[in-house]
Amino acid sequence: MRAHLVLVVLIAHLVSFASSLSQGSLVVDDNGTQLTYTDSGAPSGSQSYTTIFAVHGMGFNGGIFSKIQALAPTRRFRIVAVNRRGYAGSTPLSTFEQNVILNGTAEQRSEFSQTIGVELLMFMDTFIQQHDIPVFNGDRNSDGGVALLAWSIGNMAGLAAVAHIVDVPEATQSRLAARLRTFIMQESSSNALGLPAPPQNWVPLDISDPTIPAAHQYTAFAQWVSAYFDHGNLSSKDPNVISWVVPSSFTPFTVFNMSRSQYDSIVDTTDNPALDADQLALTSALEANYRASNFNSTLRSILPHMENWFITGTRSASFGPYCIWVVEDDNAAAGGGFVNFKTIDGVNHLMHWDFPELSVSVYQSMIFS
Ligand SMILES: *[C@@H]1O[C@H](CO)[C@@H](O)[C@H](O)[C@H]1NC(C)=O
Ligand SMILES: *[C@@H]1O[C@H](CO)[C@@H](O)[C@H](O)[C@H]1NC(C)=O
Ligand SMILES: *[C@@H]1O[C@H](CO)[C@@H](O)[C@H](O)[C@H]1NC(C)=O
Ligand SMILES: *[C@@H]1O[C@H](CO)[C@@H](O)[C@H](O)[C@H]1NC(C)=O
Ligand SMILES: *[C@@H]1O[C@H](CO)[C@@H](O)[C@H](O)[C@H]1NC(C)=O
Repeated sequence: MRAHLVLVVLIAHLVSFASSLSQGSLVVDDNGTQLTYTDSGAPSGSQSYTTIFAVHGMGFNGGIFSKIQALAPTRRFRIVAVNRRGYAGSTPLSTFEQNVILNGTAEQRSEFSQTIGVELLMFMDTFIQQHDIPVFNGDRNSDGGVALLAWSIGNMAGLAAVAHIVDVPEATQSRLAARLRTFIMQESSSNALGLPAPPQNWVPLDISDPTIPAAHQYTAFAQWVSAYFDHGNLSSKDPNVISWVVPSSFTPFTVFNMSRSQYDSIVDTTDNPALDADQLALTSALEANYRASNFNSTLRSILPHMENWFITGTRSASFGPYCIWVVEDDNAAAGGGFVNFKTIDGVNHLMHWDFPELSVSVYQSMIFS
């Protein structure tokens, strides 16, 4: 009897949790290209709030942000999780676009990358106009404005957006410039920045290990990338202290903390992750976007409020802890002060699933500083 009651309460909780997010889709160009999203909504009452546009990674759609979305209203945030092309009902990449990714000329590839960035900018601008998203008043202790949170391979899209702020209509540019206060690069890999991975790099995909059956490689990736790793002393910045391949035996992988229905609605093992991996070959466009978004003073002055952050967890899959060193070095080489850094103790690549309260606090500390 008691167990039944608990079950009923649990189901009621899950239903209210799921239904508190609204879903939608915005057209982002003249061709009818659509990006779908979920929205935690404006906090109730007339309180002010800050909007976070969150961009998911490879093999996990925007549903991976649902736990932080559930917390958003109580923390004076509105979190909009946008699904990149192909994921969760967003317009798939066309055959032409797929051919450009694999076989296009350098110019076609950089146009493609620009298109992805412009689509995300148009998405944010359309959302801002439809929902009357408040501007940022320049006081970093105040609510208002927007943050862009790009996670994992979603950094390809986030960086493309910031880098192409000069390629959208002037009205869009000025609405975004008046609002964009923080750009958070969470757990990018170096190759999503167009930069090489070190020789030790390994992923459970057939590019690293051809014995992994192609049909199961993205299932393997979703498991591995959600594991916890026991790295050595990361302050040493020595690639050899990173556990490149084997996860910890002592902490369950994040995917093991998903119910079957959560897993089925969030984890994507179709062609979408494969198309993401293909885009890593757009190295020169990716690197140009990374350098422009972070280290080009002219571009940064067009977004005068934007503070850039690069964050990773101490127990994340190899590429995150490695990549933060690369960006730290580039920041120093550029004279310093372009990017802020934070390493979060004890969390892994999917911090926002396993530690939603902590994650919102981490984002808050960056958005309000
Ligand atoms: C619309 O699609 C055509 C053909 O696929 C393409 O050439 C054009 O660049 C697209 N326009 C936009 C705004 O994306
Ligand atoms: C790309 O070109 C290679 C040969 O250069 C060819 O084998 C492959 O089918 C092409 N792929 C696409 C998607 O056009
Ligand atoms: C970790 O590495 C840093 C930098 O090399 C060093 O200063 C520190 O003593 C090391 N910590 C431990 C526990 O070995
Ligand atoms: C995930 O972890 C949290 C916190 O440990 C727990 O409350 C929740 O029940 C877990 N969910 C699943 C689906 O295992
Ligand atoms: C910096 O960005 C501006 C604006 O997009 C561009 O005109 C300029 O060429 C860039 N500078 C460098 C060194 O790439």
